[in-house]
Amino acid sequence: MSPFHLTSILPEDAMAAALRADVLHGLTSDPKTLPPKWFYDAHGSELFEQITELPEYYPTRAEREILITRADEIAASMPARTLIELGSGSSEKTRYLIDALTDLHTYIPVDVSDSALTQAGQALVAERPGLNVHALIADFTARLTLPDTPGPRLLAFLGGTIGNLLPAERATFLGRVRALLSPGDALLLGTDLVKDERVLVRAYDDAAGVTAAFNKNVLAVVNRELGADFDLDAFEHVALWDPGNEWIEMRLRSRTAQTVKVPALDLAVYFAAGEELRTEVSAKFRKEGVSAELAAAGLELTRWWTDGEGRFALSLSVAR
Ligand code: SAH
Ligand code: TRP
Repeated sequence: MSPFHLTSILPEDAMAAALRADVLHGLTSDPKTLPPKWFYDAHGSELFEQITELPEYYPTRAEREILITRADEIAASMPARTLIELGSGSSEKTRYLIDALTDLHTYIPVDVSDSALTQAGQALVAERPGLNVHALIADFTARLTLPDTPGPRLLAFLGGTIGNLLPAERATFLGRVRALLSPGDALLLGTDLVKDERVLVRAYDDAAGVTAAFNKNVLAVVNRELGADFDLDAFEHVALWDPGNEWIEMRLRSRTAQTVKVPALDLAVYFAAGEELRTEVSAKFRKEGVSAELAAAGLELTRWWTDGEGRFALSLSVAR
């Protein structure tokens, strides 16, 4: 039996139905919104990988620095036999953890992007003979059922992706994460930290325009999947800092008054000139807030590491 398994708990038709429901709800709301998980088709995943290499996008480099310096400490605190990773993408930084976890039996990457999972999973089994990789195509905001693998379990959620959930969604999400763990199991959470506004905005509005292309890719997904006629050039990428909520908000601003048709939903959507569609938030955190949100879900923060410049944090918390 091959050590690489790819299981989809998101059948095509369920995905299609979820996209239709999300787009119908989002484009008829005021203000208009589109949920972030639809950024990540094969092209979107590729664009995200390019973002991680941009000079302005520091989170990936900062988190990698922490993983390189702390992987041995993490493994000593939690000698996991099963490593679960939500929103694993390319699993590129995860390799430092996998190498440090000497008793590791199974790695379970979970992502909505089947292209990212397949590429990452196949590369990993080639590099790490003997490691079982059980990839799951699934929505991490839904209730997950994981394969029955040996404990203890370490669940990693890296990249600051938790910041893409709204506060109420984070509470539900962390409760479900806690339910996947047994007492003594641990969560390794990557959180981007509050910092100078200019640094933050630049990270989400790079000079080369890769983030703009990534943001607009959600329109291309709706065009392809639902037959819509979004003109990507008719929208402008906007990234702004919301100091009250301490999050970056990504929007697409209609350059002109226009009507977009979405035939699969029998919908025509009017955009006024300058009207903005919200596509994503990326919340930034402080230690006290992270600790409180974890505690509310039954997770006790035990370790907190930042990179040398204090831009990004990795925390380890234990299920009580
Ligand atoms: N962990 C990687 C990738 C972060 S980008 C890193 O740190 O670089 C966010 C990842 O989460 C993408 O791979 C995307 O496909 C995935 N993702 C986004 N929303 C998701 C959802 N609702 N369910 C599962 N995966 C999701
Ligand atoms: N999790 C990433 C973040 O919040 C995702 C991301 C990076 C993103 N750049 C983006 C999402 C631009 C939408 C648009 O940093």
